Amino acid sequence: MQSLGTVISTELSPTTMEFAFVLDTNSPVRKGQFVQTTSEEGIVFGFVAEIARANRYFERAESVAEYEREAPISSHFPIKSWEYTIADVKILGRMEKKGEHYHQQRVSLPPSPGTKVIEADEAMLKDFVGFTETGLHIGKLQHHEVPAKIDLTRLFQKHLAILAMSGAGKSHLASVMLEELLERPKEQGRIAVVVIDIHGEYVGFKFDPNYGRKVRIVSGKEICIPFRQLTPGLISSWFTEISSVGQNELSKIMREMAQQEKNERQVFGVPDLIKKVETGDMPKSTKDSLLRALYELKALNLVSQSKEIPNLRQNVQPGEMLVLDLSDMDDMRKKKLIVSYVASRLFNLRRKEQIPPTFLLVEEAHNFAPEKAKAAHNPSKSIIEKIAREGRKFGLALGVVSQRPVQLSTTTLSQCNTHIILRVTNPNDLKHIGESSEGIDQRMLRAITTLKVGEGIIVGEAVRYPIFIEIRDRKSRKMEKGKPLHEQALSYESNAKKADEEADEELEAFL
Ligand SMILES: Nc1ncnc2c1ncn2[C@@H]1O[C@H](COP(=O)(O)OP(=O)(O)OP(=O)(O)O)[C@@H](O)[C@H]1O
Ligand SMILES: [Mg+2]
Repeated sequence: MQSLGTVISTELSPTTMEFAFVLDTNSPVRKGQFVQTTSEEGIVFGFVAEIARANRYFERAESVAEYEREAPISSHFPIKSWEYTIADVKILGRMEKKGEHYHQQRVSLPPSPGTKVIEADEAMLKDFVGFTETGLHIGKLQHHEVPAKIDLTRLFQKHLAILAMSGAGKSHLASVMLEELLERPKEQGRIAVVVIDIHGEYVGFKFDPNYGRKVRIVSGKEICIPFRQLTPGLISSWFTEISSVGQNELSKIMREMAQQEKNERQVFGVPDLIKKVETGDMPKSTKDSLLRALYELKALNLVSQSKEIPNLRQNVQPGEMLVLDLSDMDDMRKKKLIVSYVASRLFNLRRKEQIPPTFLLVEEAHNFAPEKAKAAHNPSKSIIEKIAREGRKFGLALGVVSQRPVQLSTTTLSQCNTHIILRVTNPNDLKHIGESSEGIDQRMLRAITTLKVGEGIIVGEAVRYPIFIEIRDRKSRKMEKGKPLHEQALSYESNAKKADEEADEELEAFL
C-alpha cells in the first residue's frame, strides 16, 4: 500500500476524533479520500476533510513584497523545497478484521505522531460502506478504484429518491440501475420493473440488442383500462366532485353490474354505467354530479369494455421491464389518471402476490406527487404516498426522480430511505435536501453545488456512510433527446432545404 505521509503533532491533534498528516513529496492525496493509519488498538480509518499548503518563505507579507519588488523570490531561495502540504483527517473508526470481513469499532486512543498514513485498503472500504459483490454496479467510489456495488434490498426495499437539477444525470443514473436489474441472474433474485417514462427516454432499451427482448414499451395513447378494473373508490379519487352519497350510489350500481357480468356473461363499459345512473333512483343533485364525472370519464377515452393495455398481470415479469411511454400525450390530467391506475393496480396485484416483487420508477415525480396540491388536481398523489408508506411490506419498491425536490410530497420523500443526490445549485432545493436527507452534513451540502455531471452522493439505507460516487457509463442505447441547439438548428435548415428542392423537382417534372 502506498505511503501517503506521516502523522504530525499539532495543538489540536491527534485525538480520537481527528489527526493531521504531512504529505510525502508528490503524494496523490485528494480531499474526500479515505486513508488509514495505526495505533496500539489497530487500524485507524478516516477521510481527508481538508488539505492545506504552507511555506515559511511566504509567511511574512512585508518580506514577500520586498523581495518580489526586485525579482521573484524563487530566484533568491530554494522555495519549492520548503513547501509542505498538510491533510486534516476526520476519524471514522477503528477497523477490526474478523474472518473475511472488517468491522467498525470505536476509537479510544489516537494514532501517535510519526505514524505512517497509507491509502485505505479496498476490502476494508467495501465493508465500511457496505458494498456487496452481488450488488448493483452503478459506478465507483470517488478517489478510489472501488466499484460501487449496492445491495439490491438496501437500495430499493425502503424506496429511492434521485434528486438533482435538470441535466445533472438523473435519467442516466436510473438507466444504469435498470441495466443492472435487467442483467441480474435468476439465482440472485430478480425483480420486475415498471417505468413511468415522461419524455420517452427509456424507449431506447427496446432497440438495444442486449436488453430489447426483456423490455416492453407501451405508449400513452395505447393505454386502455378495462371497465371491470374500475372501482368506485378509484373513480371517486379521480373526480372529487363525487360526494360520499354519490360514491355509495356508484358502489351499488357497480356491484349490480359486476353480478350481471358474472351471471349473464355480459360485458359493460362506461356508457352502460352512465345509462344506469341516468335511470337510477337517487337525489337529483347526486345524479347530476355523478353524471358530470362519468361524462368526463367517457370523454377521456381511457376506459374500454374489456381491452387491457398493458396487461399488468402478464407484462410484469421478473428480470423484465415495462415502460409506459407517456411522451406522446399532452393532457397532464390524463397522465396522472394513468399513473394513479397503474400504481393502484400494481399495489393490489403485489399485495395478492399475483406479480413478482416490483420496482416502480416514476420520472418527474413532483408532477405526480406534488407537495402542494388538492387531491382533485392530483389523483396520483395519494397512491404514490401509500406505496411509499406501505409498499416495502410486500415488495413494491418506489423510485422517484425529480429536479424539483421542494415541490415533491414530503411524505413521499421522507419515506424514501435512500437518497442519491447529483448536482444541485438552487439554494432552495439545497436547503430542502439538507432538511430531508438524513446524514447529510454542511460539508456535503456545500459539495453538492460543485459536483460535475455524473457525480453524486448516496445517503441513507443503501450505504453505511454517505459517500461520493462517480456514476458509470451506460451500456444501453440512449434515445437522443435535447440535442445541442445548434445541431437542432442545422438539422432543421437542412431538412427544410431538402423539402424545398424536392418541391422544385416535382414542379419541374410536372412542367
Ligand atoms: N455519468 C455520466 N456519464 C456520462 N454522461 C452522463 C452521465 N450522467 C449524465 N450524462 C449525460 O448528461 C446528459 C444529461 O443527463 P440526463 O438526461 O440523465 O439528466 P437529467 O438529470 O435526467 O435531466 P432532466 O432533469 O432534464 O431530465 C445526457 O446527455 C447524459 O448522457
Ligand atoms: Mg431526466
